[in-house]
Amino acid sequence: MAEYDEKQYDEKTYGDAWADIYDDALLGWSGPERIVDFLHKLHGHGRALDLGVGTGRVAIPLAARGVPVVGVDTSAAMLDRVRGKLAGEPVELVEADFGGYAPGEKFSLIYCVGQSFLQLQTPQAQRDCLNFLKPAVDLLAGPIVEVGLGNGRTYDHLRDLFPGRDIYVFERKVAAHPDCIPPDDRLFLGEARESIPRAGRQLGAVAALIHTDLGTGDHAANVAMGQWLGPALDALAAKGGWILANQPLAVARWQRQPEPPGVPKDRYFLYKVG
Ligand SMILES: C[S@@+](CC[C@H](N)C(=O)[O-])C[C@H]1O[C@@H](n2cnc3c(N)ncnc32)[C@H](O)[C@@H]1O
Repeated sequence: MAEYDEKQYDEKTYGDAWADIYDDALLGWSGPERIVDFLHKLHGHGRALDLGVGTGRVAIPLAARGVPVVGVDTSAAMLDRVRGKLAGEPVELVEADFGGYAPGEKFSLIYCVGQSFLQLQTPQAQRDCLNFLKPAVDLLAGPIVEVGLGNGRTYDHLRDLFPGRDIYVFERKVAAHPDCIPPDDRLFLGEARESIPRAGRQLGAVAALIHTDLGTGDHAANVAMGQWLGPALDALAAKGGWILANQPLAVARWQRQPEPPGVPKDRYFLYKVG
């Protein structure tokens, strides 16, 4: 197993480190037959997309049963393992980060097994973006806005980055770690669609930095939400301030900025308020 430096851990690290021993390490586990059976039943016409194909543990037997598979993985070492095992099964391999992968076709089945989603480095990208923004935000007056408290991890990071600064937080219902709950007078509870405009009326366009992490895995719902979320946040955003969003938001006076160094394209969306 290859050595790796924890600080350099990225989307490729797991696969590159495990490629040589992955299949052996799983020898004691039950085989993928039940997964393959299940996927085979779900499959319709067209190709299947395997996100985090690894060594092809699932993709190869599924393809052997007549389902053409496109297998995506960040790790070239993992993809080499698949190539070495293929015996004519219809598996096409793509070396890409599935976090930002935009295939040019529709699939009849998309699956992600073996907990590969847990390896998405989105929290790291978020931290990298916030750390990158700190010097610019330090130059501005005005509070920070955090939309979606969740488990409070980002709020905690913001407190560390900007000590002594007001941080207003929006959350439908608080379920964060007890140490990461903002004071009552900095917390806007309830539906964001109602609470953000309310805060806009109360605070005005003052925020130096707005971070929003509201979206879900439902792309259509995110697009619909973006229609009201952008304008609602704009009412809180100070001129010259910064917006960091987990989804694209179209607001006329915001200019999209390039991703900070090391942050994969379209993982996060950074805007400067004009
Ligand atoms: C635990 S293995 C699972 C492999 C396979 N799905 C299985 O069930 O045996 C996770 C795989 O996901 C890949 N992976 C992790 N993050 C990824 C990302 N952001 N984009 C593409 N592949 C990724 C790793 O390289 C690794 O091959």
